[in-house]
Amino acid sequence: KLSLRDQLYEILALTAQFFQHALRQPQGEAALTYLEQARQLRPETIQHFELGYAPAGWQTLYGYLVEQKRYPVELVEQAGLIVPRQGGKGHYDRFRDRLMIPIHDLQGRVIGFGGRAFGEAQPKYLNSPETELFDKGNTLFALDKARGAIAKDDRAVVVEGYFDVIALHAAGITNVVASLGTALSLAQVKQLLRYTESKQVVFNFDADAAGQRAADRAIGELANLAYKGEVQLRILTIPDGKDPDEFLQNHAVADYQTLLNDAPLWLDWQIQTLLADKDLDQPDQFQQGIQSIAKLLGDLPNASLRTHYIHRCAEWLSRGNARLTVQLESDL
Ligand code: GTP
Ligand code: MN
Ligand code: MN
Ligand code: MN
Ligand code: MN
Repeated sequence: KLSLRDQLYEILALTAQFFQHALRQPQGEAALTYLEQARQLRPETIQHFELGYAPAGWQTLYGYLVEQKRYPVELVEQAGLIVPRQGGKGHYDRFRDRLMIPIHDLQGRVIGFGGRAFGEAQPKYLNSPETELFDKGNTLFALDKARGAIAKDDRAVVVEGYFDVIALHAAGITNVVASLGTALSLAQVKQLLRYTESKQVVFNFDADAAGQRAADRAIGELANLAYKGEVQLRILTIPDGKDPDEFLQNHAVADYQTLLNDAPLWLDWQIQTLLADKDLDQPDQFQQGIQSIAKLLGDLPNASLRTHYIHRCAEWLSRGNARLTVQLESDL
C-alpha cells in the first residue's frame, strides 16, 4: 500500500499526462495554437516542460481520476485538483480551460500546477493550493531543470514568470528559475544558493507598472544577504519595461547575455534608485539624497565595502569637485 504522499505523487503525475494528452486533442487546439503562435514555442519546448491543457468542463479531470481511475475523492481534493461545491454535494475541477504548467520538485516529480487563462479570463494565473506536497514558499519553478546549469555557470538567474523561464530555457539559457509570483523566501534563496559556489544571483524582475518598489519586495530575503555580502546579487532591468520572454521575441539571445553580464550589483542599483528621482542641483533634494545613501551605507557590515562605496558616492555626488568630496565623505 502506497503512503499518502506517494498516492498524491501518482495522481499528480497522471494528471500532468492527462493535460498533455488533452493538448493534442481537438479540444486542445486553441491552447496548442496559442503556445506555438502567440508564445512561439517549439514542440521540444512544449514537451520538455510537459505543458498541457485543462479542458473546459466542470468535471472532466474529476471524471477521469475519480470515475475512471477510481481514486478516492478526498485524495484528489488533497492533491489540489478538485474543489468541493459550496453548500452542496460534489466537486468540480479547479483548472478549467487553462494552459497547464506542471511544477516539479527537485527530483522532477509533479507537485502542483500553474494554469494560465486564455484571453481575458481572470485570474490570469491560477496556481495549485498548498498541499501535502506543494509548499509554495519552498519551491522554485524549474529548479529541477536549472540546477545543473546553475552549478556549471556558477550563477543563478531568477525571473518573475513561468514563461520567462520557458523562453530563456528554450533559448539555451538554462540556469533560470522563477519565484511563483511571490517574494523570495529565505528557504527559496537557500535552495538556490546550494548550486552556486560563489553565490552569484541575477534577479530579473519585470520593470513594468508594478515598478521598483514591487521589485524591492520581490527580492525579499536576497537583499538582506546581499547587504551582508553573503550573496553577489545583480539586478537586471530590461529596457522598455519588458519581461525576458517579451525581450526574446525580438532580440537575439546574445543581447540577453549582454544584459546579464552588465547587470549592476544590487548596492549600485540601490544607490541609483535612491538618486534617480532627485534633482541634485536642488539643495533640499541633494540633502535627502545624501541622507538616504548614508542610511544605506552607514550600517554596511563589510567595512572595506563601506569605505569603497562611501568614497564612490561622495565622488559621484560632488561630480569631481575634490573639496566637496572630502566634505561629503565626512558627512557620510
Ligand atoms: P504572461 O502574460 O503569460 O507572459 O505572464 P507573465 O509571467 O509575464 O505575468 P506577470 O508578469 O503579470 O506575472 C509574473 C508571475 O506572477 C506569473 O508568471 C505568475 O507566477 C504570477 N502571477 C501573475 N498574475 C497572477 C495572477 O493573477 N494570480 C496568481 N496567483 N499569480 C499571478
Ligand atoms: Mn501581473
Ligand atoms: Mn509583471
Ligand atoms: Mn510575460
Ligand atoms: Mn511578466
